[in-house]
Amino acid sequence: MKAAVHTRYGPPDVVRIEEVDKPAVKDDEVLVKVHATTVNRTDCGFRAAKPLLLRFLTGLIRPKITVLGNEFAGLVEAVGPSVTSFKAGDRVFGYNEGPFGAHAEYMSVPEDGSQATMPDGMTFEEAAPSTEGSHYALTFIRKARIRGGQDVMVYGATGAIGSAAVQLLKSLGTTVTAVCDTRNVELVKGLGADRVIDYTVEDFTADGQRYDVVLDAVGKSTFGRCRRLLKPGGTYLSSDVGPWWQNPFLAAVTPLLPGRKVRFPIPKHDQAMVLYFKRLIENGEFTPVIDRTYPLDRIVEAYQYVETGQKIGNVVISVESSS
Ligand SMILES: NC(=O)c1ccc[n+]([C@@H]2O[C@H](COP(=O)([O-])OP(=O)(O)OC[C@H]3O[C@@H](n4cnc5c(N)ncnc54)[C@H](OP(=O)(O)O)[C@@H]3O)[C@@H](O)[C@H]2O)c1
Repeated sequence: MKAAVHTRYGPPDVVRIEEVDKPAVKDDEVLVKVHATTVNRTDCGFRAAKPLLLRFLTGLIRPKITVLGNEFAGLVEAVGPSVTSFKAGDRVFGYNEGPFGAHAEYMSVPEDGSQATMPDGMTFEEAAPSTEGSHYALTFIRKARIRGGQDVMVYGATGAIGSAAVQLLKSLGTTVTAVCDTRNVELVKGLGADRVIDYTVEDFTADGQRYDVVLDAVGKSTFGRCRRLLKPGGTYLSSDVGPWWQNPFLAAVTPLLPGRKVRFPIPKHDQAMVLYFKRLIENGEFTPVIDRTYPLDRIVEAYQYVETGQKIGNVVISVESSS
């Protein structure tokens, strides 16, 4: 089968399209014929081994996992003998960080992995980008115990995490102020934001409103800059460690002190989470934002585009159209 393979860490062009063996299916796995996947910031981090400490997990000198791709949507082609909850022909979608393998024509996924049958009426390309940014967003929302009626600011509302966060927050009944640049104001309003601040004309940290939670979904602010935006006891969350790696430290210390807190949760994903996203999609409360779609053969260009830091929502890879 065809797959996007990288055998050393580095820039996008370390990835090449090669013929590799189709994965074997264990007793408790399903074999998925991948129709669509994505290139996202998680793939970029693992491909480049950034941050460097990631190498302790992914292989010190060379990557142990040579086919990346964590989000997938496709057709179940076969199931292992002990699998009962999926069958050949099911349309499935999900998140496979850890084993990866979605940048290929076939991948195997554990039956109890982060997958579910696809919402009705969705194409594979629409379903594939449903779980990466959204699972980071949901982890943040749950860690900060955000609930209906609260005021939340989302900084970087146009990334995969930010665009999902705005929608997930609205589904909970929170009031959302989103920060983005001029060209995306209408898009972000369409995601449900109650108020939009254009960061190219206004300093969002000078906003007069106070928030229960500030969620930095692009990891470009600091707790110090955002502190005054928070109500007493409010929470600051960031998708990144911060310029001095201070966020994990602050997350350990600030909960022990009175006043505003920093939270830095470890992202989690499981089957229940994918089912949660499926329900939101079916209810019309969550639609993953798609920027561009590339065929698998042009995955290097997809990586290059994602690494500009300018993508709006998600970048999809259509595996089918390459076959
Ligand atoms: N290392 C990893 O494994 C990993 C994995 C996932 C996420 N992350 C972290 O999570 C962040 C978000 O990832 P993502 O995939 O959701 O999105 P992303 O690709 O990093 O974000 C792109 C979006 O952010 C907007 N943006 C860029 N600079 C901004 C700024 N200064 N203020 C407001 N918006 C800005 C861009 O639009 P404009 O420039 O037009 O505003 C674009 O729409 C990453 O940057 C990274 O810090 C890391």
